[in-house]
Amino acid sequence: MRCLVKAKAEEGLWLEERPVPQIGPDDVLIKVRKTGICGTDVHIWNWDAWAQKTVPVGLVTGHEFAGEIVALGRDVTDLKVGQRCSGEGHLIGTHSRQSRSGRFHLDPETRGIGVNEPGAFAEFLRLPAFNVVPLPEGIDDEVGAILDPLGNAVHTALSFDLVGEDVLITGAGPIGIMAGAVARHVGARHVVITDVNPDRLALAARVADVVPVNVAREDLREVMGRLRLVQGFDVGMEMSGSPAALDQMVEAMVMGGRIAMLGIPPGRTAVDWSRIVFKALTIKGVYGREIFETWYKMIAMLENGLEIRGVITHRFPAARFEDGFAAMRSGLSGKVVLDWT
Ligand SMILES: NC(=O)c1ccc[n+]([C@@H]2O[C@H](COP(=O)([O-])OP(=O)(O)OC[C@H]3O[C@@H](n4cnc5c(N)ncnc54)[C@H](O)[C@@H]3O)[C@@H](O)[C@H]2O)c1
Repeated sequence: MRCLVKAKAEEGLWLEERPVPQIGPDDVLIKVRKTGICGTDVHIWNWDAWAQKTVPVGLVTGHEFAGEIVALGRDVTDLKVGQRCSGEGHLIGTHSRQSRSGRFHLDPETRGIGVNEPGAFAEFLRLPAFNVVPLPEGIDDEVGAILDPLGNAVHTALSFDLVGEDVLITGAGPIGIMAGAVARHVGARHVVITDVNPDRLALAARVADVVPVNVAREDLREVMGRLRLVQGFDVGMEMSGSPAALDQMVEAMVMGGRIAMLGIPPGRTAVDWSRIVFKALTIKGVYGREIFETWYKMIAMLENGLEIRGVITHRFPAARFEDGFAAMRSGLSGKVVLDWT
């Protein structure tokens, strides 16, 4: 099969031929149709310090996918060949307290496909049947391929009650934009999204009913005045990883506001904790998706009219993966989807 491999300890990925994976008794074999490129894949492409210490050379990369089940392991009884699916890319263990109490997304033994284990940038993917998420007819392969990052957005957005609330999202990357769409879908009043990249803000305004603010040029306080947000935002979602954005968010929150943090800051960063204490803010770190509650909620919302397809800005056949990565690395794209059919 064709697959995208981290074949050398240097910048890049390489399209190679590999044997189709063997499946165990509890696994399924998935014929991959579409995959999304994630920021994580760009780190692996770039071979930065994180990738060098995490990703084994020779690994098949990729973790955002949709496809079709083509073979079942001996003990898999509740899935069918021909079933279209996506799936959770975190492979959990069964030993930890978290896992044994059903809080699978908090399992410290978790291993990721495309990061620690063979991934989905391939014509075929082996996945434990437990991780498979069947796709209903209304969700096509293209949207199926970006359910993983939509799950990050949904997990973050549903961390706090949003009904009637005023929401600030910092970072109009694909995940921030999808979180904006989710926040509006579930009933937030005002959703303001900030970035310093005008292309990203324009995309946000096309995809979701949000107020885009370029904080490099505009004063967030002025926008808040225009929207009559006298005290500030009730809920914040930090989705940029920028320490400056978190700082601005803390400043713009109401007393007792709640912040969900998905963005990953670059190493140790300075935080003005006294302001957080005096504002009595709640800050929640968000990792991955809730397995499988987030999947349930996002599929239900997509079936109930949540529209996020516009966040996909580039589509390429898998053979043109270099163009796909170039689009991602430009910092101007939304989601980039590769076609493996
Ligand atoms: N916690 C998790 O499980 C998890 C999972 C996926 C992604 N992430 C992180 O979530 C974040 C969002 O992911 P993405 O793929 O959308 O990222 P992205 O890098 O595509 O988007 C981040 C955006 O933040 C913007 N930004 C930079 N400085 C800013 C500032 N001062 N104010 C406002 N915006 C600013 C950038 O211009 C960019 O458009 C990233 O930090 C990513 O690493 C975390």
